[in-house]
Amino acid sequence: MSEPAAKATTSGVTPEASTAGSPGATAADAPASPKVSQKSSQAAETAETTAPTDPTPATDTADILPASHWIQAPLRNDSDDDSAYGEDILSSTASLSSSILQYRTLHGRTFHSELGNAESWNPNDAQHNESMEILHHASTLMQDDKLFLSPIGDDVQRVLDVGCGPGIWAIDFADQYPQAQVVGIDVSPTQPQWVPPNLKFECDDVTRPWTYQPDTFDFIHMRWLVGNIEDWYSLYKECFKALKPGGYFENKESSAIITSDDGTVTETSALSQWGKVFLEAGKLSRKSFSIVEDDIQRKAMEAAGFVDIQEHTFKAPLGSWPADEKMRELGQYLKLALYQDIEGFIVMMWTNTMRWSIDEIHVYAAHLRQELNSKRIHPYYIQKVVTGRKPYPGEVS
Ligand SMILES: C[S@@+](CC[C@H](N)C(=O)[O-])C[C@H]1O[C@@H](n2cnc3c(N)ncnc32)[C@H](O)[C@@H]1O
Repeated sequence: MSEPAAKATTSGVTPEASTAGSPGATAADAPASPKVSQKSSQAAETAETTAPTDPTPATDTADILPASHWIQAPLRNDSDDDSAYGEDILSSTASLSSSILQYRTLHGRTFHSELGNAESWNPNDAQHNESMEILHHASTLMQDDKLFLSPIGDDVQRVLDVGCGPGIWAIDFADQYPQAQVVGIDVSPTQPQWVPPNLKFECDDVTRPWTYQPDTFDFIHMRWLVGNIEDWYSLYKECFKALKPGGYFENKESSAIITSDDGTVTETSALSQWGKVFLEAGKLSRKSFSIVEDDIQRKAMEAAGFVDIQEHTFKAPLGSWPADEKMRELGQYLKLALYQDIEGFIVMMWTNTMRWSIDEIHVYAAHLRQELNSKRIHPYYIQKVVTGRKPYPGEVS
């Protein structure tokens, strides 16, 4: 059977039409609390080591402003800006014991212990997990309250969440499908202990050869591994092998490029520099941040042997500028997730790989916060979901 052509769906956003120079809501940019997982216990012992450094010095790329630019650039004092973001919400997670809790520290943030070849740029502390939980809420909202987009049916038995982070997707899935046995796997054991009885968490490096038996899972979900994976093709092949015939694989990734449709995100803005610096860091670390731009999800799905491949592309607004009510709410959450932990998102990559100082990180973050608060700027980035089905034996010639 030949593969059907991919179907792309896009959710668009439009700035508030009536107030071109000052779109968006008038209230502070904070929606009501999203659903978050159980309480955090920062139980981990932190090893007094720094995270591994990349010996390759950052290259000067024409489009990237030097880190010192942000120290020299004045911060605007604009009374038109949003004054605050929501400080409600949030709490987070942790569990387990032993050497996997010997976290590495970098500028006061914690990262996973040494395990296989994993070198995640995501902190595993409460502050970053809170951002991930807000992003989870936004992701579900973006997908019309759906946790996933694959047509998996109701009798799904075994489910795997790859790189599950704080575990909130797996928790929600296990709650919705109490008959399913759900496994969440991550290099950081920071998931809560109080979880649905049909859910367990495992700690491992998913870039190592998998030990799951072939044809085990009905559904494999993976979200936001961008910048953490050197060989996406191998990882997709492991997913293919571990799925039962007829089972579905779904991967959602985000672009690092923040842009606008109306030119309000300018080339030299902090918003625009975000993507440029991350893309360069991905090249230097050989863990790409251009998964969406390079269409890696579809290519790796095809190479692994998946069929019925479907693509869904979403615009992810940052802030309350969209005219559409749902997109405005989405933008508020997405802004909040970034705003409350800018340093956490960049500290590992931008210091170790790009060689920025921690002072440069803090000043850049101040510029980015200011731009995120501006009502005149209409930023967004792209999130892309690709789904595919493992064919039955003999289905594909
Ligand atoms: C941006 S977070 C996404 C978390 C989760 N998928 C979600 O959607 O909320 C990326 C996660 O991938 C995990 N990760 C990165 N590299 C990994 C690896 N080699 N093996 C297992 N987990 C990894 C990190 O620890 C982190 O929790």
